[in-house]
Amino acid sequence: MRRKLVVGNWKMNGSLASNASLLSGIVAGYDGSGAEAAVCPPAPYLAQCQQALQGSAVSWGAQDVSRHLSGAFTGEISATMLKDFGCRWVILGHCERRGNHGESNQLVADKTVAALNAGLTPIVCVGESLAQREAGQTDAHCSAQLGAVLDALEPEQLEHIVVAYEPIWAIGTGVTATPEMAQAVHARLRMQLKEKHAQHGAQVRILYGGSMKPDNAAELMAQPDIDGGLIGGASLKAPDFLAIIAAG
Ligand code: G3H
Repeated sequence: MRRKLVVGNWKMNGSLASNASLLSGIVAGYDGSGAEAAVCPPAPYLAQCQQALQGSAVSWGAQDVSRHLSGAFTGEISATMLKDFGCRWVILGHCERRGNHGESNQLVADKTVAALNAGLTPIVCVGESLAQREAGQTDAHCSAQLGAVLDALEPEQLEHIVVAYEPIWAIGTGVTATPEMAQAVHARLRMQLKEKHAQHGAQVRILYGGSMKPDNAAELMAQPDIDGGLIGGASLKAPDFLAIIAAG
């Protein structure tokens, strides 16, 4: 039985003041039952999240991590630093990092290993562009992205990762994959995970991301292999985020 998981990816949004009100709204409206809930703020606000969420049912994480442990890597943040701020999760390989920062499948795999070694749970993102979907390359593309990560892991480590399927064309566009389209990709990702380790692969939570909103969340999360959501825009408003959690 996979418990649903709803993660808010705040991307590069927020301020001390707006975060304080968002976090208190989330904490006030979530009692920890039903779907599991987490938020991933920009790194400077991790300490604020730690203070506001410690002792609550909401966990928190980061949006990226360095593949390196420590040293002369200006601007980078290590997995152990994230642990220092109580992070449980780290989003890896988001298409905005792959696209805007040239992150390769190998780099995402290296970051996954670094996160796992520090005791973080990586949320590994995969997803195709519109051109790739139209060219019939969705499966090959997503499978190559996930495969690079799986190649870097021992089969037993599967129980410590989360996968997120985010079709690039659905992110921030208001266009959502239909539940059937999303489920089809999730089912193939599930098969790939089970090929690595039948039992652990069956337990990995696969989130959907891409314009998930209160009005489409329930239908998406009712699909057999959609185990929650990675939420961008709708995670910035407490009532919307809470409604998505409740839909799980
Ligand atoms: O990480 C979250 C996704 O990129 C989805 O963003 O909900 O704004 O479409 P969105």
